[in-house]
Amino acid sequence: PVDERVDDLLGRMTLAEKAGQMTQAERANVAGSPGRVASLGLGSVLSGGGSTPTPNTPAGWADMVDGFQTQSLSTRLSIPLLYGVDAVHGHNNLVGATVFPHNIGLGAMRDPGLVERAAHITAAETRTTGPQWSFAPCICVARDLRWGRTYESFGEDPALVVLNETAIDGLQGPARSEVDRPDRVLASVKHFAGDGDTTFGTGSGDYTIDQGVTITSREDFERIDLAPYVPAVRDHRAGTVMPSFSSVDWTEDGTGNPVKMHAQTELVTGWLKGEQEFDGFVISDWEAIKQLPGDYAAQVRASVNAGVDMFMEPNSPDPFVATLMGEVRAGRVPVARVDDAVRRILRQKVELGLFEHPYTDRAGQGSIGSAEHRAVAREAVVKSQVLLRNSGGALPLAKDARIYLAGRAADNIGIQAGGWTVTWQGQPVKDLIPGTTIRAGIGQVAPDAQVTFSEDASAPTDGSDVGVVVVGETPYAEGFGDVDGPGWPWDPSDGGVPREPGKQLTLTPADQAVVDTVCGAIDTCVVLVVAGRPNVVADPDGQVDALVASWLPGSEGAGVADVLFGDAPFTGRLGMTWPRTPEQEPINVGDADYDPELPFGWGLRTDSARERLTDLARELASSRDRDVRRALAEIATAVQQGGWTGSGGAADERTVLRALGRAVDRLAGGDGLTWQQMDTLISVLRDAAQQRVVEAGDDAPPGWAADLADAEHALLVGEYARAAHLLLGVAGH
Ligand code: IFM
Repeated sequence: PVDERVDDLLGRMTLAEKAGQMTQAERANVAGSPGRVASLGLGSVLSGGGSTPTPNTPAGWADMVDGFQTQSLSTRLSIPLLYGVDAVHGHNNLVGATVFPHNIGLGAMRDPGLVERAAHITAAETRTTGPQWSFAPCICVARDLRWGRTYESFGEDPALVVLNETAIDGLQGPARSEVDRPDRVLASVKHFAGDGDTTFGTGSGDYTIDQGVTITSREDFERIDLAPYVPAVRDHRAGTVMPSFSSVDWTEDGTGNPVKMHAQTELVTGWLKGEQEFDGFVISDWEAIKQLPGDYAAQVRASVNAGVDMFMEPNSPDPFVATLMGEVRAGRVPVARVDDAVRRILRQKVELGLFEHPYTDRAGQGSIGSAEHRAVAREAVVKSQVLLRNSGGALPLAKDARIYLAGRAADNIGIQAGGWTVTWQGQPVKDLIPGTTIRAGIGQVAPDAQVTFSEDASAPTDGSDVGVVVVGETPYAEGFGDVDGPGWPWDPSDGGVPREPGKQLTLTPADQAVVDTVCGAIDTCVVLVVAGRPNVVADPDGQVDALVASWLPGSEGAGVADVLFGDAPFTGRLGMTWPRTPEQEPINVGDADYDPELPFGWGLRTDSARERLTDLARELASSRDRDVRRALAEIATAVQQGGWTGSGGAADERTVLRALGRAVDRLAGGDGLTWQQMDTLISVLRDAAQQRVVEAGDDAPPGWAADLADAEHALLVGEYARAAHLLLGVAGH
């Protein structure tokens, strides 16, 4: 029936109406002149980052979208409008929405169920204010931390990205089954493909990387960059795909003729729509076709013919419609191609239920930013925190400690939310977004702590038991992330200093000075890095006792406080390799000579391994699977032996680890355990391996980083026995 309906409509459409359906304009372009949506017969309107209605409230949004909708419904065939936004970590353009950690933090959780719940809340908060479509999730594989959009990636390993593709189901319902509901939106996986894998210096300047060229072999491109699109399209059935601004060059040495993804017939039509049977539509990125060679007609022609279906032409929808019609009339764009594009677009509109329910169902507006939604965001913050170092058990902190809190990210919700928050680039300003800063979270979680706060560490440090320094990156969205200090966006007149190329992965001098001051003066010192990627913290004298990657946690800073004070354990682990120096980039799991500061998968835990295993045994207790029952006996041995890392004797520890290794071996080939349960089992082996590395210091076993990173990859791809073997190798060294 969907196809019949679509074909019937298509059969009645004029060329102008078809071209209109293939066009998406920006809100600001059509808002000023009444009737433009109708006169152009636009298929879609978007709010680009920061393009918000006045007032920026749920009702303000819904009134705006419904106003445009009325125009669309007034057209000859009453084809409803599709409204798109970048709701990439919550309905982040709306003041008052729940703002989740950016993908880099979600990837660190290793909790696909929670990723799905977060995306579902995002969808609900978005759809009830009008937009039925989000340009999310970004399923990029970030391979070079100097890329400014690294924070939008779940991780450097395609397998980790795939694990988190539950975000698509959270937005659309499982396999796009509930996209017509008032709490779901259409997803757009982006940016197809290789956006996170471009070569440094191939962007539009010597040191740029965004929108550059992915220079790689076809084989590696499939393995790394295309891999996440297979399950995204086939299993989760993402409704739309957005091509990347980048190009691809498969000559490996970069001597080929890079072709922009927006003109990649072989990949968009051949691979995506053909081989992968993608049945949704392809939406171009923002004016991306203007980066193709030739005049505008050539650009339009190349992209439509390559298989792009809808065109984000935010500021110039009219020339697009006219040019496309001209190309069709001249026979340079086949009518069949246009019909295919329009059919795909209409099909999604039918699936979304827009023909029956074109206007916003506002019933869910009461739960925008609700305590319930924020609790889920806070849980995500908790689970995303990665404990990189914890000498002398500096963390968790005592709730009555005398704390010297410093750093510009400690009390700044704008920094902690990062790019794509209310404005496109995010806002490094306080209090724009309702929620809790990390400082406020500390006040909530540990009201008896005596906190002295000094953003720049200028207050006296005497009398404090512990220093907590919260440093981080000034928000950015698509550029380098290359500005120091107050100047944002960078403007020489307001004191900002552009970072030296490639230095974005170190703390700014001002942030480093705060670390040095506080950690030099107070015996116990904890540093939190609030950033969209690993950042190198200089600590030549070993003054930083605990180091935490907080990523960009969003609106719920209290989640950071939860783990700092031990109300919840640290369980997160790196989805991206933490380099020793920026010069090591690009460095990724599986690379030859892999020798980073901390490997992919690293994360110290503060919960008890014994409890983890006891809970797992309880979960599995009723299993009838013979291997599970035998493995349970091994787990029981381990629990009874109790020779836990760091607390038991070496002999005990070996017995425990061997028992767990046997349990993993027994279960590796079967399906008695879910991925999450296997992850729990293996986590105890990882604890032991990490503990060994920490204790050994400079004498850490050779190749430990590669082994730990490889173990993490093996776990992600279901090679459990191999993961266990690698971890036991390091642990038993
Ligand atoms: O969805 C985004 C994309 O990620 C970058 N360019 C603009 C698009 C729409 O805002």
